[in-house]
Formats: sequence, C-alpha cells, structure tokens
Amino acid sequence: MTTDPEGFLDTVGRMVTGWAWLPADPGRRLRVEVLFGASSMRRAKPVETLADRHRSDLEAAGKGDGRCGFAVPVPAALAEREHVVDVRLPDFPDVRLRGTPRRAIVTLGLVTLRAVHPTDADVERLRAFLVGMVQLNDGSADTAVPAAADLRAWLAGEDRCWLVAERDGHIVGHCRIDPDWPARPGSGTLALGIELHPDVRGLGLGRQLMLAAHRWATGRCARLELAVLPHNAHALALYRGLGYVDLGPAALPETGEIHRRMGIKLPGMCGPDRAVTLVS
Ligand SMILES: CC(C)(COP(=O)(O)OP(=O)(O)OC[C@H]1O[C@@H](n2cnc3c(N)ncnc32)[C@H](O)[C@@H]1OP(=O)(O)O)[C@@H](O)C(=O)NCCC(=O)NCCS
Repeated sequence: MTTDPEGFLDTVGRMVTGWAWLPADPGRRLRVEVLFGASSMRRAKPVETLADRHRSDLEAAGKGDGRCGFAVPVPAALAEREHVVDVRLPDFPDVRLRGTPRRAIVTLGLVTLRAVHPTDADVERLRAFLVGMVQLNDGSADTAVPAAADLRAWLAGEDRCWLVAERDGHIVGHCRIDPDWPARPGSGTLALGIELHPDVRGLGLGRQLMLAAHRWATGRCARLELAVLPHNAHALALYRGLGYVDLGPAALPETGEIHRRMGIKLPGMCGPDRAVTLVS
C-alpha cells in the first residue's frame, strides 16, 4: 500500500473543494493548506483547514469512511477576480495534490478556435497540452499521448481535423474529428471527441468548439457521431442541446466499456475553413 496521501482538487470558484486521505492510516484527518494568488496582488495568506468532511461519493469510492473532503470559501478580495488556486499538504510537503494548480476564471474573454497546423511548433504545443491533461488525471503521458511524429502523420490525413481553443496564448481545449470509432467505415460518418481543461468548463466554450467542428465537417461528411459515458451528464447536456440523438449502446473496442453512441445529421453545404474568435 502506498505511504503517500491521495487526493484531488475538485472545484475552484466560489468554493475550493477537494479531498485528501492517507490510505495507510485511513482514520487520520489530513491538514490542508489552500493558496490563492492573482497576478495583480501579493499572494494572499494561505487558508488552513482539515480534510475531515464526509462525502458520500468518497465513501462509495472506497476512500476510508468518506470523511476526507475539504471546502474553503474564496477570500472576498478574490471572489470576482481571476486567480490561481494551489493546495498543499503541510505534513507531506513533497506531495502534489492531483488537479493542482487550477485557475478560477470569471470571464472567458477572447478565445480563438483554430485547426492545429502540422508544423513542429504547433504539434509540440498540442502535445504539451495533451501531456498536461493526462497528468491532471494522474495518467501516464508516455502511453496516453502520441509521439510528435505520429501526431504529424495523423494531421496529414484529409478526412480529419484537430481543432484547439486558445486563451491568453495557451491551448485550453481540443476537439478531434476523424474516421475512427464509433464512426463506421463507409457510412459517410466521421467521429468527434472533445475535451476542455477543467478551468474553462461550464462557460459555453464546449458548445462553441462543437459548432466550429460542425462547420469544418459540413460538406465533408453527412453525419457526425460520438460516444459518451452514460453518467457524463454535462457532456450529454451539451450534445442533446446541439441536437445529437441517441443511437444506442456501443462498447469501447479497447476495454469493452459501454458508452452511449450519439449522432447528428449535418447539412449538405460546404463550410469555409476559418479561425473563429469567441468573445464573452
Ligand atoms: C463536456 C464538455 C466538453 C462540455 O463543455 P463546456 O464548455 O463545459 O460546456 P458548456 O458550458 O458549453 O455547457 C454545455 C451544456 O452543459 C450544461 N452544463 C454546464 N455545466 C454542467 C454540469 N456541471 N452538469 C450538467 N450539465 C452542465 C450547460 O447548461 C449547457 O447546456 P445549455 O447549452 O443547454 O445551456 C467539458 O465539460 C469537458 O471537457 N468535460 C470533460 C471531458 C469530457 O467529458 N468530454 C466529453 C467526452 S464524451
């Protein structure tokens, strides 16, 4: 059994919430220090708390008795300002809590949606983003992120497009369209997959990125299809809101995990390839 604590920073915004526990000593309530920072001010004083709140989801997930959640309100001076949140465990100074650091975004501002170019520099930018996303979820970037040469080869295909959303010069989300699963070969269908950095979720960007993907696909395929886990309520709300219809269950080829296949018919006209700028 690992002697390091486990934990996750779940939300930032009005409240900073997360959990931390020590599998080797499940009855111990860990000390947590939440650090707030904004570019225009000195780092605010850290807020100390205990990870001792009961959460039924944590109990159900086998995190001891589930009394390992923490919740800290954002200092009033920062509530309406963009700021960075980090979490430390003072008794385990070398441990980084998964999901940290995070940025609390009040207004999305200017976001550019564009296709990735098959240049070395752009491919490296995309790779860096994908590696960051895998690390955020505690996965292994070595196996989960394709090598730069494979990404360049992927981008050379005509029946595919990799869109990214950029904010302040950083990639914050991506959406891929290609002929892979759950699209069926020869059906005139392409498949779509989307993922945003947690900092920019829930602000309408997913919808805009999907609409940009639809514009790219219009005239190139008759339908788009995707696969979504049945409990992913947020993604389901997005897809249903855009007009995707349920096409029944589909097992992920690699693992057999049951997803819900959804699809949308596209209009027949051809859309221009263009960068889209979103302002909110
Ligand atoms: C799913 C995802 C792409 C959605 O993008 P987003 O920018 O966060 O979503 P939006 O803000 O555009 O909101 C889309 C819809 O979800 C609804 N929604 C927002 N937050 C939600 C939440 N926490 N739970 C359920 N629905 C939610 C919104 O009301 C909106 O519906 P509306 O257009 O009818 O108002 C994004 O959250 C994400 O990357 N999630 C993690 C990766 C993932 O699940 N990818 C999809 C795999 S199939």
